[in-house]
Amino acid sequence: MPEPTNTIKHVASPLARQTLLDNDLTRPVAGGRPIRLLPWLQVVKIGGRSIMDRGPDAILPIVDELRKLLPEHRLLILTGAGIRARHLYGVGLDLGLPAGSLAPLAASEAGQNGHILASLLAPEGVSYIEHPTIATQLAIHLSAARAVVGSAFPPYHHHEFPASRIPIHRADTGAFLLADALGAAGLTIVEDVDGVYDVDPNGAGGKQAKFIRETSAASLADDLAKSNGTLPFDPALLEVMATARHIERVQIVNGLAPGRLTAALRGEHVGTIIHTGAH
Ligand SMILES: Nc1ncnc2c1ncn2[C@@H]1O[C@H](COP(=O)(O)OP(=O)(O)OP(=O)(O)O)[C@@H](O)[C@H]1O
Ligand SMILES: [Mg+2]
Repeated sequence: MPEPTNTIKHVASPLARQTLLDNDLTRPVAGGRPIRLLPWLQVVKIGGRSIMDRGPDAILPIVDELRKLLPEHRLLILTGAGIRARHLYGVGLDLGLPAGSLAPLAASEAGQNGHILASLLAPEGVSYIEHPTIATQLAIHLSAARAVVGSAFPPYHHHEFPASRIPIHRADTGAFLLADALGAAGLTIVEDVDGVYDVDPNGAGGKQAKFIRETSAASLADDLAKSNGTLPFDPALLEVMATARHIERVQIVNGLAPGRLTAALRGEHVGTIIHTGAH
């Protein structure tokens, strides 16, 4: 019951009259692990540049693999932005557009790839759903169909941090945030390389690149800071992995190698496993 006083209406709550900035005060109620909303869900991020941009040769075998996985798993399939977003960044940056203006435009490119993938899986009852639907009606959609497709980009849009000219929270970060918030069973990131290497296997000196079979987000972040190197995913992913609540590991797999995605979803180690900060 609200309890009127002279100066303020207090509502009975463990956090009433306390600042939310003091961790010691909020920990007793806010320190526990959140519940898993969809513990049976597998989240799969399909690369925009690495898979979708390659056209039928890469897309159709993945669609076939996803189709065969449907009886086994319930999937949230999220797509990256690919080459059209790169073009958009080029034009936008030339014009001086801020990161907050580029982010929603790039996100719409990721959505277009999602529409393409969903159309190919439509005979299986799979459709594309927008972010607000993912946020509020994912469970009912996944009761009606074994999988849905969405854009992997997080909807930071005009709230994107202006840390860099290019939006820092891109498709891999978006897929991870969603998987962790939903308490999903797992996240698999599908690329065009076998996993993470110490240097870009397709870059200069790539012939000597060493494959990293298993590592942690913290160790990759250290290596990245020392070498100023590159990764096959957004560097911001390492930051969100550090504070993960549910997703304990992410596997990066090669979507051009038939069967790898299927094996990864069955719990096999067929790419690079990255351990997060979640226990
Ligand atoms: N350390 C690394 N290990 C493995 N691949 C790397 C590394 N650094 C860079 N790469 C490159 O990353 C490429 C994948 O590119 P990228 O991650 O941009 O594609 P994508 O995931 O499809 O992008 P998006 O979904 O954002 O459109 C690989 O083909 C590889 O050449
Ligand atoms: Mg990638």
